[in-house]
Amino acid sequence: MSPIRQKKIVLSGFISSLIIASAVIAYFQFNSELTIKVFSNPKSRYASPATDGQVNHALNSQRVSLGKMLFFDPRLSGSNWISCSTCHNPTMGWSDGLPTAIGEGQQKLKRATPTILNTAFNFLQMWDGRFSSLEEQALGPIASKDEMNQDPDELVKELKAISGYVELFNEAFPGQGVTKETVAASLASFQRTIVSGEAPFDRWINGDEDAISFAAKRGFKLFEGKAHCSTCHSGYNFTDDGFHNIGLKSKDPGRHAVVPLPVTKGAFKTPTLRDVAKTAPYMHNGQYVTLEEVIDHYVRGGDDKSNLSPNFKAAELDEAEKQDLKEFLKTLTGQPREIAVPHLPS
Ligand code: HEC
Ligand code: HEC
Repeated sequence: MSPIRQKKIVLSGFISSLIIASAVIAYFQFNSELTIKVFSNPKSRYASPATDGQVNHALNSQRVSLGKMLFFDPRLSGSNWISCSTCHNPTMGWSDGLPTAIGEGQQKLKRATPTILNTAFNFLQMWDGRFSSLEEQALGPIASKDEMNQDPDELVKELKAISGYVELFNEAFPGQGVTKETVAASLASFQRTIVSGEAPFDRWINGDEDAISFAAKRGFKLFEGKAHCSTCHSGYNFTDDGFHNIGLKSKDPGRHAVVPLPVTKGAFKTPTLRDVAKTAPYMHNGQYVTLEEVIDHYVRGGDDKSNLSPNFKAAELDEAEKQDLKEFLKTLTGQPREIAVPHLPS
């Protein structure tokens, strides 16, 4: 064998081992990219908030159990037919499965019922953020003609006529008893206990690599990467607590009714994505029935682009990527917590 040919063999051997080595490295890199370690520590970004403990710390168990009764009690409505749980139904992800809510007298409301899951963490309540606390919010649906159609002063009188309630209010609020404020405070206390159970996503960020599929891991990468979802759906509760116009065709002014600035026109609160697979239909007007339709909306870059949020960017995804993103969203469904419907006082 000529020395030149020998050199060639050595060289081609060297090149092919380089190719094999880089293929092996690429293979491991590809797979390790899908493991939690490579992402810039989602554990800290998506960890359960400290407020969980703080919120529960402030809770008083008598107020919580009283609030639970009130939440499930149709006597809170004018007709005695509708309770908070008619619309915020625990078996339907604390929502109602309807495009928009239906209230007293089969009245169709303009907006979809949001889940009350994790409302304890909300900075502001309602699609347009018009209430700043659960206490402030609670009397709204009771008094609203379309929702429960009950005068709160009348309600206080009715509750005072139910001896079981009088006793429970006196125990939970010594010296105060039944008042509009204590009704609101107990409903708020109960709702603060409705927080997410551990989801496969949480197990994954805590180190269990098998908790979610490869497709879902790829979906998470898209969620944080080229689909731009985490710009707004960020942190443990997958919301920035902000208001954005994402290009829905809707005449609802949204946040603009509360804060009249050009940017708030058609802007709505970023909803949590926790348990999102359970809370269809989606958006403030319930216009999308499936997660596929929601993802297609983002891929289209919205429909009414006249006042799009500066944070909104179209998600350039192919069919396989859309599927991966959906698989990721499905990993946010928490372990269901058993909620027994309470016995109501008489
Ligand atoms: C007729 C259906 C219906 C009933 C009954 C009802 N709600 Fe709602 N709830 C809604 C709708 C619709 C919205 C959103 C309205 C909006 O944003 O303008 C909402 C919003 C909320 C929110 C805000 C959630 C968020 O993420 O911003 C909370 C909390 C809430 N309701 C609690 C209650 C409580 C407590 C009761 C009983 C006192 C109750 N609801 C009764 C339909 C209902
Ligand atoms: C500019 C901020 C922003 C970005 C970016 C964004 N969202 Fe949203 N998202 C929102 C707002 C605001 C709503 C509610 C809009 C409405 O009802 O008018 C929403 C609603 C949703 C809903 C419906 C939830 C429900 O309970 O109704 C889902 C699901 C969702 N987004 C997923 C995504 C995904 C997936 C991406 C990435 C492709 C994404 N979002 C990107 C702000 C954003």
